[in-house]
Amino acid sequence: MASTIRGMWHHLAQQPESYERKQYYAFGRVLGAGTFGEVREATFTPDGRHVAIKVIKKSGLNGDEAMVIKEINIVRHLNHPNIVKLLDWFESKDKYYLVFELCTGGELFEEISKRGHFSEKDATYLIRSGYESIAYLHDHNIVHRDIKPENFIFRDRTPDAPLMLADFGIARIMKSDDEILSTMCGSYGYAAPEVLLRQGHGKPVDVWSMGIVTFSILCGYSPFWRFETPKPLMAAMLSDNIEFIETYWWDVSENAKDFIRRSLKSNPSERMTASEALQHPWLTGEAASTRDLLPDVIHNFNARATLRRAVLKVQALNRIRKLSLGSNGRSLSDSSSSSEKERAMGSDMEVEQDEQAGGPSGMPQQQSPLPCSPPADPKESIPGSWAPQG
Ligand SMILES: Nc1ncnc2c1ncn2[C@@H]1O[C@H](COP(=O)(O)OP(=O)(O)O)[C@@H](O)[C@H]1O
Ligand SMILES: [Mg+2]
Repeated sequence: MASTIRGMWHHLAQQPESYERKQYYAFGRVLGAGTFGEVREATFTPDGRHVAIKVIKKSGLNGDEAMVIKEINIVRHLNHPNIVKLLDWFESKDKYYLVFELCTGGELFEEISKRGHFSEKDATYLIRSGYESIAYLHDHNIVHRDIKPENFIFRDRTPDAPLMLADFGIARIMKSDDEILSTMCGSYGYAAPEVLLRQGHGKPVDVWSMGIVTFSILCGYSPFWRFETPKPLMAAMLSDNIEFIETYWWDVSENAKDFIRRSLKSNPSERMTASEALQHPWLTGEAASTRDLLPDVIHNFNARATLRRAVLKVQALNRIRKLSLGSNGRSLSDSSSSSEKERAMGSDMEVEQDEQAGGPSGMPQQQSPLPCSPPADPKESIPGSWAPQG
């Protein structure tokens, strides 16, 4: 009886039918900021289970609601121990609600920096988990297209917690193994050269991004940190010459460097595949060193990375625009749909708006194009750099 009355009320309030399910969730704290809304912790009241709900404002989608439906349709069929599971979804007049299993262990980089010890061996465990989920996706003809540390979250706070891949917001199902995707996508700093050059892309873009993640996790800075303007940056990305600064890499194995070089091959057809990565001796062997890399990683991973990111995103947006113009004479506005474009740019767009509204106050203007880069002089410490906790 009560549910019939509630149903009638929703009908009168012009709420979609599935809105009915919202009553079963009690919303709690914000877990993360999303591009179109936020991710909040919630309790499923019938059994007290804690979940994570991604709340997406329809007004932010510029009419392209199909994008959310695509995300739902991709993630609901996935079943892998390293991929966050979609448990439910519903909508209101104004918002979509995607209910995921809750991961309580925090984002990849943030959590590593809190550890007391982090070695190459620890890195192989995490990179292997990452590739397990990517190989599973690629076997199902799905390209994630937004592989980056923020989209990897630890399932819980136990020492061996599995690393989970989240955020299928711009993932695509390919119609065939060799279908070429063309939308500009991903996050600057992690996007493969063929994405930035809009040459058409596929599964290899995820391997490139994993190459950047692998490099960064071992030293705390990005491989192309030196290059601040689009042309030299692109030249470096296309050079197949990855620089391993001796100060930070002297004790990292040759296997690790070979693994990174194969992930960052500029030609996507020469890049290793996700299943080849899982067969690589760095991930299968016992050789990886147990030396603590954390002091260097923390030294290089700026304490103010989160704040800096806001400034860097604005710069990155401008750089991508220029790059896009330079590569084919067209601007990003030629891309297929405006909301997909914005989505493709991720929160860069949002930050640009913040910046127009005055920008973050008191922020130092950083020139580096990448989220984390080593200090100019590797021996010089960064003021306010992260201190190991715990
Ligand atoms: N299932 C989850 N459990 C805990 N935190 C999550 C979960 N899903 C996402 N988050 C947090 O919310 C952030 C944004 O979620 P994400 O799906 O990546 O949205 P967006 O598409 O906007 O990037 C993530 O980086 C992470 O910190
Ligand atoms: Mg994300």
